[in-house]
Amino acid sequence: MMENFIYQRTTELIFGKDQIVLVGEKASAFGRKILLVSYGGAFNENVYYKQVVSSLKAAGLTVYELGEIKPNPDISKVREGIGICREKGIDLVLGVGGGSVIDTCKTIALGYYLQEDPWEIFTSGKMPEQALPIGVVVTLAATGSEMNASAVITNAQTEQKLSFRSQLVVPKFSILDPRLTFTVPKEHTVYGIVDIAAHVYEQYFDQVPDTPIQDRMAESVLQTLIEESDKVIADPQDYGARANIMLASTLGFNGILGIGKATDWASHKIQHELGAIYDIPHGGGLAIIFPNWMKYVCEAGLGKFVQYATRVFKVDPTGKSEKEIALEGIERTRAWFNSMGAPSRLADYSIGEEHLELMAEKATKNGPLGNFKKLYKEDVLAILRMSL
Ligand code: NZQ
Ligand code: ZN
Repeated sequence: MMENFIYQRTTELIFGKDQIVLVGEKASAFGRKILLVSYGGAFNENVYYKQVVSSLKAAGLTVYELGEIKPNPDISKVREGIGICREKGIDLVLGVGGGSVIDTCKTIALGYYLQEDPWEIFTSGKMPEQALPIGVVVTLAATGSEMNASAVITNAQTEQKLSFRSQLVVPKFSILDPRLTFTVPKEHTVYGIVDIAAHVYEQYFDQVPDTPIQDRMAESVLQTLIEESDKVIADPQDYGARANIMLASTLGFNGILGIGKATDWASHKIQHELGAIYDIPHGGGLAIIFPNWMKYVCEAGLGKFVQYATRVFKVDPTGKSEKEIALEGIERTRAWFNSMGAPSRLADYSIGEEHLELMAEKATKNGPLGNFKKLYKEDVLAILRMSL
């Protein structure tokens, strides 16, 4: 039966067309000085970015900008942002972007109150007791960072990609206008869809029995994603498809699908080790790893994999063993990823055997990964080898 849980999320979600004009009003509730964090470059010529800036200015706010946030964002940009916040007396950290931008905002907001270097939050678990408030304008559907307590930051110098969780950094408000995602290139759209699915899998595949509500919510998000992925690839400006994928992203990782469950997250830990060394897109790494994780662990809970195959992909169980049905569901997962053009092997990123052992070692340094099946160094190494 499901485990005890406490669930609280206080993000004001503002969803739909034209909602970004509200950003000035929403931001002004937190003070007058805003740190605006973004990818910078060509993205800031985007009409929507300009609308955000003019809405902030119309509300009489003073805007300081931190641009050039790259995918797999580096701790050095966090340090730069904290410097601006301290020098200018920033009241609100506002991100216009996807996971990389939002996670940078979260770490700046928390690191602002830490005397030590912000990397300490990741390495020694030093947690200040407060954080600057955070607002978000989402431009890419993937991580769910706009309504969750997690942030993932890379330290290129030490080749580490680490995460933290703190309720203090759950955004105060997040504006989601699906039209902002119309310009997301196909490959990032696909990485986003895979990442959303991966978040659902991490919470869906667990060993806690009798969680039908959580399971069916997860299956609904997955089925919707599969249907909408075809539409968005055919027409990147399909508002309905972009809207459904955006909602799937937020629901996929705002914690609601994992309530009362012992969630897994092993595949994400493995992908973070890949990302730390190779700077590959997060969703690209997950597309390679996840179906192999499924194959490796499925015998630890075939019933769940049968449920997945028959409910999500409508695999016909007639005359098949549980293992056959489970494997068919896993094959359908790989086929879905492939149909979108996602990578399927480490070789697609020219990654060979060189660092597999090191990655398996780093991933399990603090103990075995996951809950569906505990994975030790040898297990992680086996999954990485299956992915070559
Ligand atoms: O740099 P440009 O060329 O502008 O391209 C950006 C960006 O580099 C492009 N993009 C974003 N919105 C766009 C757009 N291009 C055109 N139009 C738009 N509207 O997309 C590129 C990738 O953006 P990024 O923010 O890196 O993507 P994503 O949202 O997938 O975030 C990935 C990061 O989040 C972490 C990942 O590890 C990775 O570092 N994660 C964060 C999580 C969380 N906080 O809860 C959970 C996830 O599992 C994940 O680990
Ligand atoms: Zn993810």
